[in-house]
Amino acid sequence: MKAFVKTTILLLFATNISLAQLNSEFEPGALWKDTEGNFINAHGGGILKHSDTYYWFGEIKESGKNGGLALKGVSCYSSKDLYNWKNEGIALKVIQDTTSMLQSGCIIERPKVIYNDKTKKFVMWFHHELKGQGYAAAMAGCAVADNITGPYKYLFSGRINAGVWPVGISKEIKEDTLQDKDLKKGSEEWKLAIINGLFLRRDFKGGQMSRDMSLFVDDDKKGYLITASEDNQTLHLHELSKDYTGFTGKFYRIFPGGRNEGPAIFKKNGVYYMFSSGLTGWKPNPGKSAMAKSITGEWVSLGNPCRGTDEENKTTFWSQSTFVLPVGKKSEKYIFLADRWKSEDLKDSRYIWLPIEFEREKPILKWLDKWKIK
Ligand code: GAL
Repeated sequence: MKAFVKTTILLLFATNISLAQLNSEFEPGALWKDTEGNFINAHGGGILKHSDTYYWFGEIKESGKNGGLALKGVSCYSSKDLYNWKNEGIALKVIQDTTSMLQSGCIIERPKVIYNDKTKKFVMWFHHELKGQGYAAAMAGCAVADNITGPYKYLFSGRINAGVWPVGISKEIKEDTLQDKDLKKGSEEWKLAIINGLFLRRDFKGGQMSRDMSLFVDDDKKGYLITASEDNQTLHLHELSKDYTGFTGKFYRIFPGGRNEGPAIFKKNGVYYMFSSGLTGWKPNPGKSAMAKSITGEWVSLGNPCRGTDEENKTTFWSQSTFVLPVGKKSEKYIFLADRWKSEDLKDSRYIWLPIEFEREKPILKWLDKWKIK
């Protein structure tokens, strides 16, 4: 027994984890520390399981009023049990060159990483905004790495699928001549015009916008980027090229005029599900859920997935969706990952992870102060 205790303590020291720091459950909304005792700085993130380890990629937020600017890059943490996270350093670094689009002071949000079996590369996509331009650029950025923890090599950023129409778009939508300046913002006519392709047409030549985004790899290994486009009014699902670093030109509009952000897709028993949020910036709003038999649609709304108090339902437990992580031996359980943003100190935004339950075919969320994967 003595020898066992001694070896355990030695092992813990060797892995840089002290007994007091070991976590054995999730505590949504609490301050989450890494194995060195520092706060985990990986917001708007996503997780990739590779071999027997989970890798969490996220936005490194700063303290203070410019806390949303990327001064470092994208962080990476690793864990075998999902409760204890080791800081793996900066996976994608901002570039210290003022001529680079990825220079310090730009905005990098909602980074996600997927693995390409054929090229054996890890591919990262993220929402990218240019330094000093607020959220006007609305671009998707892409980077690749040979090792999951990086360093990721920045490839490019840009609008998406310039000069290409979404699959199945009507002649009327393509040929309508109505413009934004002809309509009163927020009016019923304006809303209808958006559904009828107002912003889709505007961005046809220069490429479609991409803000809040996520990635999904299907069982057939096809990769997809799902992103808030058309001034955040409509989601676009873009099919990725075979190596996942570009596009095939096939893309689909999901919920035109539906005003969705924070999209997160998962698949259960052959059915696709999506969580998303409304558009209220850093402030929380009622969550949304949807399902589809085919990832390209048609998507059907399932309403607010939250099952809590009125306040909790109106605010998605005071959080905004970012990702869904399949867990368990057969990936048969799912965790909802969200951010509880603190706009005045974004670095101190908290992580809300909750188990996804099912109410017949509907994925639902209930609050838990503390919980474990069973
Ligand atoms: C949110 C979005 C965040 C961030 C923020 C900026 O709606 O989900 O990722 O872009 O707006 O205000």
